[in-house]
Amino acid sequence: MTDIEQLEASILDDIHAASDEATLESVRVATLGKQGSVSALLKTLGAMNPDDRRTRGAAINALKDRVGLSIADRKGILKASALDARLARETVDVSLPVRPGPLAEGRIHPVSQVIDEITAIFADMGFAVAEGPDIETDHYNFTALNFPPDHPAREMHDTFFLKPKEDGSRLLLRTHTSPVQVRTMEKQRPPIRIIAPGRTYRCDSDATHTPMFHQVEGLVIDETTHFGHLKWVLEEFLKAFFEVDEVKTRFRPSFFPFTEPSMEVDVGCRRSGSEIRIGEGDDWLEILGCGMVHPNVIRAAGLDPDVYQGFAFGMGIDRIAMLKYGMPDLRAFFDADARWLKHYGFRPLDLPSLYGGLTG
Ligand code: PHE
Repeated sequence: MTDIEQLEASILDDIHAASDEATLESVRVATLGKQGSVSALLKTLGAMNPDDRRTRGAAINALKDRVGLSIADRKGILKASALDARLARETVDVSLPVRPGPLAEGRIHPVSQVIDEITAIFADMGFAVAEGPDIETDHYNFTALNFPPDHPAREMHDTFFLKPKEDGSRLLLRTHTSPVQVRTMEKQRPPIRIIAPGRTYRCDSDATHTPMFHQVEGLVIDETTHFGHLKWVLEEFLKAFFEVDEVKTRFRPSFFPFTEPSMEVDVGCRRSGSEIRIGEGDDWLEILGCGMVHPNVIRAAGLDPDVYQGFAFGMGIDRIAMLKYGMPDLRAFFDADARWLKHYGFRPLDLPSLYGGLTG
């Protein structure tokens, strides 16, 4: 046996004996690495005469190639068996019962659920969701919405004001989501089709009023939208939301500084005891305010009221949540009582959608 054959036999033994990739790597370093045995052989070539170097060189390089191939083969085998071992080790018994975790225990608050339902319905009609800050300026909450200075409508809203600044101006907690109308018109060119759900604040508290409550604003602005569209959109919404085939609505003339004409909308219902059913009966329940956006509001937001027109509406989210899910006291919404939430809350994975069902 030549020295090359001998070396090869011992290297192949080492390769086959390597039972994991780390050991194999150390065999590679010990043979083909800079200080390795094959590399050491190659270094002897320099001192040889040209004839010896040619034959010996070819033999050593062939050895180097064969060792390289053997290492690569072995590496493939070790990789595959490591994967097999891991697959065998990490089997999961799919028949085991699911461990109750936060997903099973946690509940979505009815207000969040109703916001998701409202969003799903309006998204289906092509509305995007817009947002504005809870802390507003007098300009966005009132002035740009056509409330004249010192107009009693400003008092009507029982506004929470922040401490006045040096210049006398006061920030406030928005009393309605209508400021988002102005902010949206300033940012976005028509056609505009948005809803803006969010928190609103008024200094008021009893079984049906809390100082913080939720509204959803709707706004459509383009060149042709008229009152008929408003009626259709609201009726479609009410049918989808209350999951009934027909609703009766009644549009009563009303007043808001930012709409003209302005309406309040009642929905037909039946009351028996404390229960209210929407979609049947001869009773009425007030549910939202709406109207055609006042030209002054369109102008204040930087658009030309001779070109653009549209409608807006504002609805109390907590109120329609109480109606839909039969929750009698609004204050409980914000008590953070886990027992209440367990009773009235919704499962986190039952996302409301029009095709999957709003209420799961
Ligand atoms: N912002 C009004 C309110 O809070 C509701 C409303 C919104 C009315 C949009 C008309 C148009 O009472």
